[in-house]
Amino acid sequence: MATLIVVGAQWGDEGKGKIVHLLGKKADYIVRYQGGNNAGHTVVFDGKTFVLHQIPSGILQPGKKCIIANGVVLDPAALKEEILFLESRGIRVRGRLAVSAWAHLILPYHKYLDAHREAGSDKIGTTKKGIGPAYSDKVGRTGIRLADFMEPDLFRELVERNLQEKAPVLEQVISLDALRRETFKDYDALRKFFEPFVANTPALLQEALAAKKNVLFEGAQGALLDVDFGTYPFVTSSNPVAGAACVGAGVGPGAIDEVLGVVKAYTTRVGDGPFPTELTGEMGEFLRSRGQEFGATTGRPRRCGWFDAVVMRHSVRVNGITRLALTKLDILEGVDPIRVCVAYRYKGKLLKDFPASRQAQAAVAPVYKDLPGFTGPVKGITQLNKLPVAARDYVRFLEKQSGAPVGFISMGRSRDETILIDKRFRWTP
Ligand code: IMP
Repeated sequence: MATLIVVGAQWGDEGKGKIVHLLGKKADYIVRYQGGNNAGHTVVFDGKTFVLHQIPSGILQPGKKCIIANGVVLDPAALKEEILFLESRGIRVRGRLAVSAWAHLILPYHKYLDAHREAGSDKIGTTKKGIGPAYSDKVGRTGIRLADFMEPDLFRELVERNLQEKAPVLEQVISLDALRRETFKDYDALRKFFEPFVANTPALLQEALAAKKNVLFEGAQGALLDVDFGTYPFVTSSNPVAGAACVGAGVGPGAIDEVLGVVKAYTTRVGDGPFPTELTGEMGEFLRSRGQEFGATTGRPRRCGWFDAVVMRHSVRVNGITRLALTKLDILEGVDPIRVCVAYRYKGKLLKDFPASRQAQAAVAPVYKDLPGFTGPVKGITQLNKLPVAARDYVRFLEKQSGAPVGFISMGRSRDETILIDKRFRWTP
């Protein structure tokens, strides 16, 4: 038996979809444990591009079992659409996907509340998928779980209670009657659709672990969007860090073997909030256009900047990352020098650690180390010793600064555009 958690080490969009697809070859089960359809995991499979939002990327590999676990907030209508889309492209989902009865739902009123908040001065640049309001209900103990959705009388009663509770805000944007119609329009069909998918997922996982199966936990978003360790309040409302896989899937901490952090060779972020190494000028535009840095869920242009080792040290620490997968190294080809932020300066002091204060996060000045650039071409190289020396030196520098070894380098969306460094890693395909 082996278990692996794959997490985003920066602000999300590091390229987890491809890495999970690659390593998922050795997995029997692939599990999503937090987030919702705010995620967009892009995978190229059989020459076709798939963007998965709620279903684990492992679904594209025949025979693998996939679990949407309790820590996810799921939008039933969007999930049905995603299942039907995959099936229309020849991917079998039924019999291979289990959805936790414990998972909380995103309902239409959550999306209206999200959009309403985003229209005001407290805006943080969310995906407007209703994630924050759904998690708020969960911890506020007014959430509705998939198990409740399967009980028609109870579901109606809980929705009505929540609509009444939220009426003062909701009625500023939509009438409760219109919202009731929207919520119940496809309810019966949706409930029947989900019947075969609903499962006791902790029990399934316990069985899998007892049978010594390989289980891969697929994180969404990234450590700097974590509600505890990220750039609060400019974060998502769940815990993308590795520790959340245990609570979010219902397995004990002793079941976890390894944590792989996926990290981009530079930094990107979508949405508002602090970003110390952001490049707003020509260089930022260059990274965005060469790296095709546009959000997979919302299509928004991503903000781009240099690699931030302060962020990475924080991320390695709070995730317990044992190995890194470095993505998009090829995008830096020809950039000279390449800058890496090694510390921050704040109020006359040098900071080596990521600060908790929102004021400091917004005001720190990056301290850069300039490294020589590498001239191409690096794309297409599949062996570490074939990389230009300056590219290898850049990778070694990032490892040393971050505090975790790089096991893989990815330089393109397809599986073969990868350098496998750590052949002893048991998930190496
Ligand atoms: P929410 O998760 O939609 O509430 O958005 C909160 C913040 O997280 C915003 O800055 C979003 O842009 C960001 N975010 C949410 N999901 C993702 C993702 O999958 N990749 C990158 N950023 C994300």
